[in-house]
Amino acid sequence: MPRFFIGCISGTSIDGLDVALVDVEAKPAITASKTVLFPELLEDELRHLLQPGPNEIFRLGLAHARLGEFIGASILSFLNDNGLDAGDIAAIGSHGQTVRHHPDSDPGFSVQIGSGSHIAEITGIDTITDFRSRDLASGGEGAPLVPSFHRMLFHPYEHDQIILNIGGIANITILYSHEQQPFFGFDTGPGNALLDAWVHDSRQLRYDSDGDWSASGQVSNKLLEALLDDSYFSLGPPKSTGKEKFNLNYIEQHLRDFPKIESSDIQSTLCEFTAVTVANAIERWGPESARVVVCGGGRLNSDLMQRLDAHLNHHSVIRSEEINVNGDSLEAGAFAWLARCFTDRVPGNVPSVTGAKGERILGCLYPSGTKV
Ligand SMILES: Nc1ncnc2c1ncn2[C@@H]1O[C@H](COP(=O)(O)OP(=O)(O)O)[C@@H](O)[C@H]1O
Ligand SMILES: [Mg+2]
Repeated sequence: MPRFFIGCISGTSIDGLDVALVDVEAKPAITASKTVLFPELLEDELRHLLQPGPNEIFRLGLAHARLGEFIGASILSFLNDNGLDAGDIAAIGSHGQTVRHHPDSDPGFSVQIGSGSHIAEITGIDTITDFRSRDLASGGEGAPLVPSFHRMLFHPYEHDQIILNIGGIANITILYSHEQQPFFGFDTGPGNALLDAWVHDSRQLRYDSDGDWSASGQVSNKLLEALLDDSYFSLGPPKSTGKEKFNLNYIEQHLRDFPKIESSDIQSTLCEFTAVTVANAIERWGPESARVVVCGGGRLNSDLMQRLDAHLNHHSVIRSEEINVNGDSLEAGAFAWLARCFTDRVPGNVPSVTGAKGERILGCLYPSGTKV
């Protein structure tokens, strides 16, 4: 079997499709990666699907197929960039785009789109999708699924480590140097989601570059207190969340009680809120003095990073690049790893992370050709 797997994901920020090439021959390693921007129309379609609206089923079906085509074409050009062809790749693990994540409904469910049939048709490579639903079917959160890859990638580690991924939502993986303790992880709450929502609503920008705008304002302690008074933060793991909760509407609901706060002060408060919720989760659940390795787009927001550092007195906080890991490709790499798990028919979930009843093989295969 070829030694390379491809993983890809479009996170909740919808800032592009991350693609990673993972070599699994020895210890898994990400050997190439790329972020491909969406065509404007597809990006708009995906964004609109995140909120309930009219004609959802038709729009969902169309976006599912269109995103599948886009992923397939992006992988072909990624292979070309790296001098590889379909025969070099064992399988693709495609997470797709989450459009709904409801682990708390009865039964819990999570919907990712990006048609595996289209990806397999275009690339001629076995494609595995739908990684979350089996974990949900066995009582888990279906998330986060990245911790087992973090463990493989960062192993062996001399010190306790916390891998913090700041995407739209922030999640942590806690890795103990003494492996007697099971590693675990969970979603801490908002990552960039609220920051992006507010800067977009107020200034029509995609994100607050470097956190310049949030750094220019003052934190409103009253608003911060109200935001922190949310039961999600006092819940223990396993837990996961999404943009169904942490979105513009969430901000607006809180602002009803504080109509006079300046826009830039709101951005500062949201940045502080994000940093405090991440830091509290680390302080409460993480081992003391563990190194915090930050990946995901939020690591590029200096104001957020400074606030985080200020709240984590016992931990050193570094960007993943400081230990030679590209912070934009870890999640995509994780889905390459999960494709490998599926191909070997070994479990991909970690019950101590997701809360599932047991280990499960995750995913659904779209074979490359007409014969399996
Ligand atoms: N230079 C930057 N300054 C501030 N924030 C940034 C910067 N670059 C990226 N980001 C943030 O990172 C987000 C994308 O992070 P990513 O890890 O791709 O999230 P997701 O997994 O949700 O797609 C952007 O929406 C933005 O909020
Ligand atoms: Mg992204």
